[in-house]
Formats: sequence, C-alpha cells, structure tokens
Amino acid sequence: MRGKRILTGVATVLAICVATTVAWAGEVEVLHWWTSGGEAAAVQQLQKMLNTEGHTWKDFAVAGGAGANAMTALKSRAVSGNPPTAAQVKGPQIQEWADLGVLTNLDDVAKAETWEKLVPEVVADIMKADGKWVAVPVNVHRINWMWCNPMVFQKAGAIYPQTWDEFFAACEKIQKAGLIPVAFGGQPWQEATAWESIVSGVGGPEFYKQTMIQADEKALASPKMVEVFEIFRKIKKYTDRNAPGRDWNLATAMVIRGEAGMQFMGDWAKGEFTAAGKVPGQDYDALTVPGTADAFLFNVDSFIMFEVKDADAKKAQKAMARLILSPDFQVVFNVNKGSIPVRSGISEDPFDAVAVKSMADFMATAKSGGLMPSMAHEMAVSPAVRGAMFDVVTNFYNSDMSPQDAARKLAAAVKEAKM
Ligand code: BGC
Repeated sequence: MRGKRILTGVATVLAICVATTVAWAGEVEVLHWWTSGGEAAAVQQLQKMLNTEGHTWKDFAVAGGAGANAMTALKSRAVSGNPPTAAQVKGPQIQEWADLGVLTNLDDVAKAETWEKLVPEVVADIMKADGKWVAVPVNVHRINWMWCNPMVFQKAGAIYPQTWDEFFAACEKIQKAGLIPVAFGGQPWQEATAWESIVSGVGGPEFYKQTMIQADEKALASPKMVEVFEIFRKIKKYTDRNAPGRDWNLATAMVIRGEAGMQFMGDWAKGEFTAAGKVPGQDYDALTVPGTADAFLFNVDSFIMFEVKDADAKKAQKAMARLILSPDFQVVFNVNKGSIPVRSGISEDPFDAVAVKSMADFMATAKSGGLMPSMAHEMAVSPAVRGAMFDVVTNFYNSDMSPQDAARKLAAAVKEAKM
C-alpha cells in the first residue's frame, strides 16, 4: 500500500515536471553581433538566465563591429519569411521594422514589469512605435571615450591630453618613443565613431546637434566642419600602417598590450580590458575625447522581437524581454559589456570607476543638454543620411581630399539623402 502511494507521488511529481517543461520550455533564436571577448562574455549571461528558466537559446551571431553584417543577415532572413525570434536592432531602424507590421507588441511585459517607471523617457521613445513597446533596451554605451595605456605615456614622457593641442603633443612624444600613438581600425564605422567625437569636441553640443542630429546643410558645410576634418586628417599621421581593415577589438588589444597609447572607441572597448583582467586607474584609463568632457554621445543597444506563432516560443520570447530589464541581468551584463544599466535605480557598487563616472555624467548631461544620440551608432539620423555621412567620411579619410572639399561634399550628400 505504502509503496503504491510513493509511486503515485513520484508519478504526480513527474507529471508536474513534464507539464512545467512543456508549458515553459521554448526556443529563442537571437541575432546579434556580440562576438569579441567582452561582448561574448556579456551576451552569454542572457543565454544562461534563459536556460535557467528552461528555455533554449539558438545563437545567430554575425560577426562585424557595429552590426552592418548582422543587419544584412537579418534582412535576408526576414525577406524569406523566416526571421529569428529576436534581433539586436537600434535607433530609427526599430520604427522601420515596426512599420512593416512584423514585430511583437511587448506592452503586456512592459506593464507587468513597470518599464514606464524604469526606463528614461529619451530611451523609451526610441523603443516604441505608435505608443507601443516593440523593443527592449539593454544598456547605455558612451561613445566619446579615449582608452589610454598609462605605461605608454610614462615611457614617452607624455601627459594625458585634455585639448587637441595637448593631444597632438602627446602623439609626437609617443611616436618619438617608438610606439604607436593611436590604435586605429580603418573600417567606415570606426572612422565615423572617431569623427563624430571630433565633431562634438571641436564644435561643442550645439554644433553637434546641428550637424549630427538635425543634419543642417549650412552647419555641415561650415568652417567649423573644415576644422573637424583637419583634425581627423592629422590624427591619421599617428596611426600605424596596418590600421586599414583592422577590427576594433584588435586595436583595443594594442592598447592593452602597451603597443599603442590611445584608442578612440565607445565603452564596449572597456569590455575587452575587463575580459583581459585589467583594472581602470591601474592598467588603463578612460579619458573623454578632447573638448567633450561636457558631452555624452549615447548609444543604446536593444532587441526587437518578431511575431512568433508557437505558444512556447512566445513564452520564451516574453521571458527574454522580461529578463533583459531585470536588475540581475542589468548588472551582470553591463559589468561585462562596459556599458551602464539602462534601468534606473541600479546600485553602482558592482561597477568600476569608469562606469560610475559614466553614470554621473549621464545624469549631469541629461540636465545640461550635453546628452546626445550617436550618429555613427544609428541613434540620431535616418539610415540614408547616416550612409551619406559615412561615405564622405571614409572617402576623405582614405584619400587626399581637402578638408574644404569634404565639408562641401558632406552637405551635398546629406541634402541628396534627405530627398
Ligand atoms: C554596439 C555595441 C557593440 C559595438 C561593436 C555598437 O554599435 O552598440 O554593443 O559592442 O557596436 O560591435
């Protein structure tokens, strides 16, 4: 009798387990471009958390900084009627996907998790289409950083620069010491990343807004823009011969190893230092790009979710959306990624000094007007205008085009892209 009862008990437990698995276990196929050491360490946290809830992660990683390759892969999958469950997409592109009517409405998760209260309005606006949540923000990256190796500066007898004059003085000294002043990767998006920081540093917030957000043709062709191109050209003198085509994380590795003094890059570069066990203030330092101490060029990573039919896949998809904005994930992901949490109210204790400074600067620049979306990282202008800017910047950087011609061509190309 007793034995029978135990068996019945076991059967009941098993039945519950099976029911739970069936009810909860779904698969999410996730398209992203996080393939460097720091990026992979960060995205694996999401996979782990989903697995803990019984879901399966099908990785759809497409390598290539800033995601151009990933976006091409996404379009071809969507065109063939077979999009992944979720995809890393950001800025105005979110609206473009929403306009096609293929995205899952995430309002139910948003409501249950009180996203309205937790996500800053400037970010929430980007995540919504027609007032509905169609994307989940992951983090806030800052673009206008320079990653520096203090040993290189010490060896060269150079000091950390705050102005462009000091920057070029440091470059001269590092070069004379036989080291590479600027670790650079010659790819259009990396060129645009450095260039927009120079726009902000040379012109200040108003000029940045006129050119990189409003895409005002007069400002784009102005003498200030000529100055921006002059500085950009001068920087090239301090990069090495192997820069063309180099991936951003390999450039970061040159700073980590002490072969190069500095790198212009968003704070995903910090993820590489973290993955290599390096500590800020000791092994490396993060300076704001000259002239940009009062600016915060931001870039928010996010995921859009495509409509899925299968009930379990739907559950897994909603679980992914919920987990992304959960406090635990916001900490563990951003510590690895180099970014700061996008959810408000997260303690700064687990974060390093650079992230803590970023958090303080985010708040301060939100008040001062220095918090501005990144053009290079798809937050500011339409894909067409961004493409026009990229073309002129890369053509200038890789030819002997004069800074005057570049400013003129920039205004003309943007005008055409707007039509
Ligand atoms: C993304 C980052 C990513 C970087 C390099 C940026 O556009 O926002 O998350 O680490 O590109 O791929």
